Amino acid sequence: MRTILARTLFLLVAGLGVAGASAAPPKKAAAKAAAPAEAAPAPAPAHAAPADEDKGKEINGVCAACHGEFGQGGKRGEYPRIAGQRAAYLKDQLKSFRARKRINIPMYPYTQERELPDEDIEAVSEYLAKIQLPTKPPEFKDSDDALTRLLAMEKVMIVPRAEGDIENGKGIYQKECFSCHGRDGRGRGKFPMLVGQYTNYLKKQVDSYLKGERPHDEEGPKGILNTLKEKDIQDILAYLTSIQDPEKQ
Ligand code: HEC
Ligand code: HEC
Repeated sequence: MRTILARTLFLLVAGLGVAGASAAPPKKAAAKAAAPAEAAPAPAPAHAAPADEDKGKEINGVCAACHGEFGQGGKRGEYPRIAGQRAAYLKDQLKSFRARKRINIPMYPYTQERELPDEDIEAVSEYLAKIQLPTKPPEFKDSDDALTRLLAMEKVMIVPRAEGDIENGKGIYQKECFSCHGRDGRGRGKFPMLVGQYTNYLKKQVDSYLKGERPHDEEGPKGILNTLKEKDIQDILAYLTSIQDPEKQ
């Protein structure tokens, strides 16, 4: 326990060190993460949490500075949503950041070997994968201001509709993407969930696959994404934002 705490403190200090950089987390969130003991409660189960879950939650206090206290993401997708993402995928990505196979400069200080050993990756990934964000907006009071509404909406697993031809997007997605990302876009095994993720974040990833900066699955340099037109990709992203509400399917 003490070593975890010490490491958390170390991470926090490292985190504050990057606070001046351009990719620094929003100030308010950073202040919150600096006091992990009083961090707002994650949706806690009624029964006593097993040790690993506590550990996952504690580590997540550091991630929260950018990804939000519930892993809901932030800054409209500059920080992706990681709550409810598949555990195997989260582990893969964290290892790939740590090995610098996938470049992520803002997360660099958080993923180096000394600071994020395998057991921590395991614990935080399992913790995040279990967080279920609501799929319905809360009921607002007339007195709730725009900021209150915006912050509350960020914690809902629904992103704004993206522009595009949904029918065309559906046709391509259900032919070319479903086998790995699932018919409902919620992923399977190590294949990531795409539904509920910020559109601009997904678009940025597709761009980096196309530029060969990030490998898409085990495909060579000319994978499935390279065969699509720009408009088709936009249409797929639009389709993904049309199947978010599980009740409407
Ligand atoms: C300083 C800000 C910052 C902190 C702190 C941070 N991240 Fe990130 N994280 C980012 C950014 C920015 C990206 C998106 C990178 C990109 O656009 O490719 C990201 C991406 C990710 C991804 C990839 C998501 C996907 O869908 O592929 C995972 C997983 C992740 N972070 C987990 C974590 C965990 C776990 C922690 C805590 C140990 C953490 N992050 C701490 C900024 C941060
Ligand atoms: C053969 C399996 C497979 C197929 C088919 C596939 N993907 Fe993927 N996809 C993956 C894997 C594996 C990853 C994670 C790659 C990594 O480790 O960086 C991924 C990641 C992604 C991501 C980034 C997710 C994130 O959170 O960062 C996007 C966006 C994406 N795929 C879109 C698509 C689209 C659109 C299609 C169809 C045109 C498609 N994929 C078809 C396996 C597949």
